[in-house]
Amino acid sequence: MKKLISNQKKIVTLMSISICSFIIFFSSCMKKESEMVVKGDSGTPTLPAMPYNYGSGQNNLATLGRVLFYDKNLSLNNAIACGSCHNQANSFADNHQFSRGLNNTYSTRNASAIVSSPFHSHFWDGRAANYDIAVFMPVMNHGEMDMFSLDILPAKLSAISYYSTLFNNAYGTSEITIARIRGALSEFVNDLSSTNSRFDRASTANTGQFNGNGLTAFEIAGWQLFNGKGKCINCHNGPNFNGGNQNIYENTLTSTFENIGLEVNYSDIGRGKITQNTADNGKFNIPTLLNIAVTAPYMHDGRYATLRQVIDHYSEGIQDSPNLSFHFRDIPSNLFTNSIDSFGFSQVLPPANFASFPVKPLSLTEQEKNNLEAFLNTLTDVNFLADPKFSNPFTGN
Ligand code: HEC
Ligand code: HEC
Repeated sequence: MKKLISNQKKIVTLMSISICSFIIFFSSCMKKESEMVVKGDSGTPTLPAMPYNYGSGQNNLATLGRVLFYDKNLSLNNAIACGSCHNQANSFADNHQFSRGLNNTYSTRNASAIVSSPFHSHFWDGRAANYDIAVFMPVMNHGEMDMFSLDILPAKLSAISYYSTLFNNAYGTSEITIARIRGALSEFVNDLSSTNSRFDRASTANTGQFNGNGLTAFEIAGWQLFNGKGKCINCHNGPNFNGGNQNIYENTLTSTFENIGLEVNYSDIGRGKITQNTADNGKFNIPTLLNIAVTAPYMHDGRYATLRQVIDHYSEGIQDSPNLSFHFRDIPSNLFTNSIDSFGFSQVLPPANFASFPVKPLSLTEQEKNNLEAFLNTLTDVNFLADPKFSNPFTGN
């Protein structure tokens, strides 16, 4: 289960929530239902004459996706957009513990950061295998976050002047369909690639080999701790520090969903709700650590306000429960067995009765905690967080 995959790394402009959303919200309440299909007023997007280069070659599709991502017309009452909960400045996470949906209802989990991770399942419980599925899920599956009605969306967007050109540029005709909306949103999310942090620059181009260039001795010591005594790399590995190619493993191993000992009694059963397997209760998708310094609050329930609180948790706060990861237990090394899994990865398997071994807190010193935090701070890609091609095109209206 222990997969050590080589690390190379790869998401700030605050978006103002327009005051008019309130006015629109109240005025739309007073309209008849047929009129609610008519567009709200997000303003007109300001776009460059030549589309930005998104790196995927799908620049017109990504441009359409960017407009859709920030357009409040996608919501039933024209009050929220994807970008209302996913802020670029926060690596597309929400800096509130829970996100406000329509009619002042709140999500029950913290809105995750979004950085392009095509080979990874999405959401805290991994319920979406890819972005095509994921982009409509947060808004469709939860009554409390209901964002748009797919039945009326194409007709609604067709009544908005700027979409005709955008769909035409992206798809060759101006026709608006659910599949096209989905495809453009999916493209934009897929293009949210964050690859220019100080840590990225401390690796040799081409090989991805860490050389430490430009990092302080403390930051380098933190990276060593991350790989060593901290054991963070056992889970936060792969290009995005989120456990590598998770969706490939999903049906064979559950090791990429882990319980990190936040609670004795799981208030949210996480992965277990998807698999209906009690052994998965309390396990969650390993989150990316890219831009982690700006994605507070932390964990699926946003319980920790600071990175120091997260580190304190791993150092001395881990709670024992039947599904706690074996990585946090005191298991003699001779009880582990090595094997090669069906994908060719070497695995280190714990003894079958690993849950009976006691919790082993990391017990980090103050200096080690400082170093670890310093390292985590090197994962911030300031360009990504302020890159105009990912920004809200409606700002400035
Ligand atoms: C009302 C707030 C809200 C809105 C609006 C919203 N999201 Fe989210 N989003 C969330 C929350 C909360 C989660 C985490 C839910 C979970 O994991 O159970 C999430 C998770 C995601 C993820 C998973 C990230 C990952 O890799 O795990 C993606 C992708 C995503 N949202 C895309 C979108 C898109 C696209 C839109 C617009 C169509 C959108 N979201 C609108 C709150 C929101
Ligand atoms: C056994 C696997 C595992 C190990 C080892 C591990 N983590 Fe995690 N980490 C996770 C999982 C799973 C979550 C999400 C847990 C949740 O929300 O319930 C997480 C969450 C986090 C978060 C919050 C991310 C966010 O977006 O909210 C940070 C920061 C973090 N870990 C850092 C570390 C550091 C630093 C170490 C080493 C000291 C470490 N992790 C060791 C699996 C692990």
